[in-house]
Amino acid sequence: MSQVLVLNSSLSGEASVSRILVAETVARLTARDPAAKVVIRDLADAAVPHLTPQTVAGVRATATTPAETAARALSDALIAELRAADTIVIGAPMYNFSIPTTLRAWFDHVLRAGETFSYSEAGPKGLLEGKKVIVVESRGGLYSEGPAQAIDFQEPYLRQLLGFIGLTDVTFVHAEKIGYGPDARDAAIAGAKTRLAQVIAGGLPQAA
Ligand SMILES: Cc1cc2nc3c(=O)[nH]c(=O)nc-3n(C[C@H](O)[C@H](O)[C@H](O)COP(=O)(O)O)c2cc1C
Repeated sequence: MSQVLVLNSSLSGEASVSRILVAETVARLTARDPAAKVVIRDLADAAVPHLTPQTVAGVRATATTPAETAARALSDALIAELRAADTIVIGAPMYNFSIPTTLRAWFDHVLRAGETFSYSEAGPKGLLEGKKVIVVESRGGLYSEGPAQAIDFQEPYLRQLLGFIGLTDVTFVHAEKIGYGPDARDAAIAGAKTRLAQVIAGGLPQAA
């Protein structure tokens, strides 16, 4: 049975564009594979805590205190979810030119040496293999073309974080100009839904 891991990170509840598009993605994936198991992590409603001086060693070194042991257990659980998934769907709004801190806290728990990446003479190596990722990016402005392309720290950053742990088969789907008014928002959602239909019908090719 295939498994889909869904990460939502928008703080905007039902008004969220990325949540609408993540739901559309999951509906299309499960229509294609009705037996697929869907695991949902809502990083806004049930936030993964930010690492603190009290917890960081649990993830980055050796857990000795109860707080470090708890952080290690959460990291283990999040990595197990990631390993079990064949497809990962990420809803990633652009917040201040990058990703929500809720999503960043999730990455802080799953990028772990010896578990999801390793270091060697040849440099770091991602340890996850054979997974497909769809990232839905919602943005108030326009970043896929034009002058603001240079200040898109969301997509290159996500590509780096995912690639660092071996998740290199990543398709990005954009919904842009959400802040330009209701018509622009509707058009962005419709465009992204069309793109998602193509991506999923085509067996999730690499993004162009
Ligand atoms: C805290 C915050 C920061 C934002 N920063 C940006 C930004 O840097 N650039 C941008 O184009 N839009 C920005 N926006 C607008 C969101 O990207 C836009 O509303 C998008 O639709 C959010 O995704 P969602 O609808 O899934 O919540 C920001 C919104 C919030 C709440």
